[in-house]
Amino acid sequence: MAHRPDPTHTHGSRVTTPIEATHPLDPLNGDEIAAARRILADAGHFTERTRVPRMLAVDPSKEALAAWSPGDPLDRRILVTLLERDTGVASEALVSVSRGEIDDLRVLPNTEAPFGQPQYLFEEYEDAAVIVQASEEWRAAMRRRGLEEHIELAFCSPLAPGFFGREDEVGRRIVRSHTYLRLDERDSPWAHPVEGLVVHVDLTERRVIRIDDEGDVPVPMAHGNYDLETQGPTRESLKPIEITQPEGPSFSVDGSLVRWENWTFRVGFTQQEGLVLNRIAFRDGDEDRSVAHRASVPEMVVPYGDTSISRHWISYFDAGEYLLGKNANSLSLGCDCLGVIHYFDAFVPDDHGNPVKIPQAVCMHEEDYGILWKHTDLEGRPEVRRSRRLVVSSFSTIGNYDYGFFWYFYLDGSIQVEAKATGIVFAGAGLPGAENPHATEIAPGIFTPVHQHLFCARIDAAIDGEDNTLHEIETVRIPTGPDNPYGNAFTWSDTQLATELEAQRLADGLTSRVWEVRSAHRKNHVGQPTGYRLIPEGKGLLAAQPESSVHGRANFATKHLWGTRYAPDELYPAGPYPNAHAPGAGLPEWTRRNRSLDGEDLVLWHVFGPTHFPRTEDWPIMPVDYSGFWFKPHGFLDRNPALDLPEDARASCAPGDGADAPAGCCSSDSPHD
Ligand code: CO
Repeated sequence: MAHRPDPTHTHGSRVTTPIEATHPLDPLNGDEIAAARRILADAGHFTERTRVPRMLAVDPSKEALAAWSPGDPLDRRILVTLLERDTGVASEALVSVSRGEIDDLRVLPNTEAPFGQPQYLFEEYEDAAVIVQASEEWRAAMRRRGLEEHIELAFCSPLAPGFFGREDEVGRRIVRSHTYLRLDERDSPWAHPVEGLVVHVDLTERRVIRIDDEGDVPVPMAHGNYDLETQGPTRESLKPIEITQPEGPSFSVDGSLVRWENWTFRVGFTQQEGLVLNRIAFRDGDEDRSVAHRASVPEMVVPYGDTSISRHWISYFDAGEYLLGKNANSLSLGCDCLGVIHYFDAFVPDDHGNPVKIPQAVCMHEEDYGILWKHTDLEGRPEVRRSRRLVVSSFSTIGNYDYGFFWYFYLDGSIQVEAKATGIVFAGAGLPGAENPHATEIAPGIFTPVHQHLFCARIDAAIDGEDNTLHEIETVRIPTGPDNPYGNAFTWSDTQLATELEAQRLADGLTSRVWEVRSAHRKNHVGQPTGYRLIPEGKGLLAAQPESSVHGRANFATKHLWGTRYAPDELYPAGPYPNAHAPGAGLPEWTRRNRSLDGEDLVLWHVFGPTHFPRTEDWPIMPVDYSGFWFKPHGFLDRNPALDLPEDARASCAPGDGADAPAGCCSSDSPHD
């Protein structure tokens, strides 16, 4: 499909809003969310106190998807989680909004082992604060600390409790609340933690079940504000950089379908994961060759390495407990993307199951990315081509932290996934200068516990179709001897990971270990199976001990790689309801079956992310910390797929461009013909 640039949009942005689904993998639209609620209400499943923690589109089976053609009817199904606020009874309904029918309805056994609670509602954040602030014990603790004057403006945070088998918590809907002071309504509360005060709240019974109140560390009172008003005046040394694309972008968008250079994919969005990419394919000649069926970052865990009463239990699952999609930013107001932007709106249900539009939840744009390939030949003649990447991104704010999820598509067939962690580091208080083996002092009296941000990407790979194999490749050293007479030689090993128990692997940077997904049937022009390699950063995994609760609850984060055989309901590596769930759900449970991965429909789960020893430079707001991985073609294509790039990439490196040239090659007023 040739893209015709629309001159009226060259400097603006365009938006795709999900109006009516035309493809089975389109994200949910507002009408569908409203319809699901109406169908359940008409059938008598809504009371005054019924709430909707989550709604997820249920993808059609792969068989149904393969048989579907444009114009065929859709059967749009939504999995709706319902919660009765007064009783804590939770249920799941499978609703076809196309047929107007409830296909299934079951009560979730959340009062029995292994427990688990639906995701938090926004109204529960407010409830938790109200319950804490009404509690006489909390008020007494504040008075005892001399903080009475701060009670009105105090911020009481709703924190997921983990799972510790306590009798007054098991099977119940619990939050633990920390208290922070605010010196005025716009003051950043995270700079004023009240150390050693934890209020445990039962959200169903709407009462404080227990209070921990120990120590009397002074509350740090220096502000942690970072807005212009506080931190101004701003520097004036930066000259403008203008990114313009006078002929418009090189991508085209048709509903959820994106085409850019050789790439095609469909942009999806769910309440749990946020951004999802479906049916990723790379064009080779006349053929769109499949790379992945579905790709997302469906879970992340943030375990804390602190023994204090305030934090030893903390291990937030920001997707499974708080929902990355529901908390996605609207990118309309900020400076999130530069260039010619295409935004995708998203719809999620509110606490009552009514649709809410998140305008411009996903941003897509192109970026120049330096040199893609270059050589200066023996005669001194250079050939150089610019690299460019298509960026598809979203950002979610969960409490104090902000996470960006960036998917980069490159001209050479590579995909890069990058998670950006920023926002406010989670802090406690301590005596200035005190030694603490579990927390660094990043501002006077502000102690920030060591913690990890362990993301789990899920790639439902489909290298030239669904029948794939998985392999581990790494460097092998050879002892000097008959096989290595000069001592210089080395080779590589290629080990098939043929079952789910074999496919639970650690990264090893010293051997350059990578994992390759290969087609079980297709070969390239030198007879090798076509493949893509997952190239890990190989940073630290879960640092907690095997005996700990979090080790079992976030067990996915104990391996860099898991390979599983595709199963439609295996979407979240810590299981569908990690909140207050006992250890063992998700990947460790599924892989006990040890299914074959030999020529099967494979799913890769990759764990990555920083172990964060906070530093003074992270205060009062943290510069982005990057982590991620690459998914690169390896034998997938017969040659470098970017030989046909134009030399000047539309004047982006026009000769004679001097540093002093008043109108640079990319300025909007320079002619391009
Ligand atoms: Co951090």
